[in-house]
Amino acid sequence: MTTPPPQHHVVLGAGGAQGAAVARRLRADGHRVTGVTRSADRPLPEGVTRRTADLPRGAAAAFDGATHATAVLPLVYDERRMAAIADAVADAAASARLRRLVVVTGTRVPSRPTGVAAFDTRRAAVDRLLGSGVPTVVLRPPLYLENLRAPGVAGPLAAEDVLRYPLPPDAPVPWLAHADLAAAVAAALHRPGIAGAAFDIGGRDLLTGPGLADAFGAVLGRTVAYRAQDPDAFRSALAPVLGAEAAAGVAATYHWAHAHPDHLASDPEPAARALGVEPMGVRDWIAAQRWDRAGAQR
Ligand SMILES: NC(=O)c1ccc[n+]([C@@H]2O[C@H](COP(=O)([O-])OP(=O)(O)OC[C@H]3O[C@@H](n4cnc5c(N)ncnc54)[C@H](OP(=O)(O)O)[C@@H]3O)[C@@H](O)[C@H]2O)c1
Repeated sequence: MTTPPPQHHVVLGAGGAQGAAVARRLRADGHRVTGVTRSADRPLPEGVTRRTADLPRGAAAAFDGATHATAVLPLVYDERRMAAIADAVADAAASARLRRLVVVTGTRVPSRPTGVAAFDTRRAAVDRLLGSGVPTVVLRPPLYLENLRAPGVAGPLAAEDVLRYPLPPDAPVPWLAHADLAAAVAAALHRPGIAGAAFDIGGRDLLTGPGLADAFGAVLGRTVAYRAQDPDAFRSALAPVLGAEAAAGVAATYHWAHAHPDHLASDPEPAARALGVEPMGVRDWIAAQRWDRAGAQR
């Protein structure tokens, strides 16, 4: 029996919640994992070795010796900066002769220009990375279930039984857990026959806001109402956390969803089949969290 060649996985953005979930999964699968962060003191999952780089600078060193890489595109909405990051990652991936690169866009990406930086910068980055010459798979997530643990959501849920989120009530979303993102990445890094593909990934359940509120109500044993938050109010609340520019960039995606309620609704089932993954249901995810009646989540 031949032993498979050892793998060294590099995860860009491993200090963020999504990148950390990916790094954790790859460690659990038995791989050597290097996480790339800007700062030397951002915590990384256990067993993950750190390399620091402030992309676009330092990409080549970050990929040195890697066999596989996952690029969780960072919260950058400046067109030139994202293009420079995509160039640097594509060149570094090619120089390292990666066996596979997986790109996580962080969002669905409409196929045509939208004027929304969060979408247009990522469409351009994806085009560049698919053209790197390295076998590449692109994963476009919808919204993460973990967003619902933010104080701005968990607070009103605990205090008022109100699920408040900046989406219109008629927008269906296949909410995705970070653990299922990680499973999709792990599959995309290894599955044969999918290089060059881009997938709309998602969770098992496609739910509107009221459907999501009902799921919370069923699990928590009380009636939960859905209330659509104005994306501008969401932006104001986010600005002290992310900075004004990033908050405006994120809020623009929710304005888009208000104007295009089906924007996040594409069926993730073909991706799940192609990747061989079975994402969890929303109720199972809610039941696995601890929701504190007195305030935000514990
Ligand atoms: N769909 C959704 O529901 C959803 C929710 C949240 C975020 N997102 C998207 O997911 C992506 C990641 O978001 P996030 O909030 O986790 O990301 P983030 O805060 O931008 O960054 C996460 C990680 O990337 C690293 N990083 C950022 N910029 C870098 C650079 N120029 N060079 C090297 N490393 C860099 C950070 O390093 P340091 O730790 O050193 O800073 C951190 O470890 C974004 O595209 C965001 O829009 C989507």
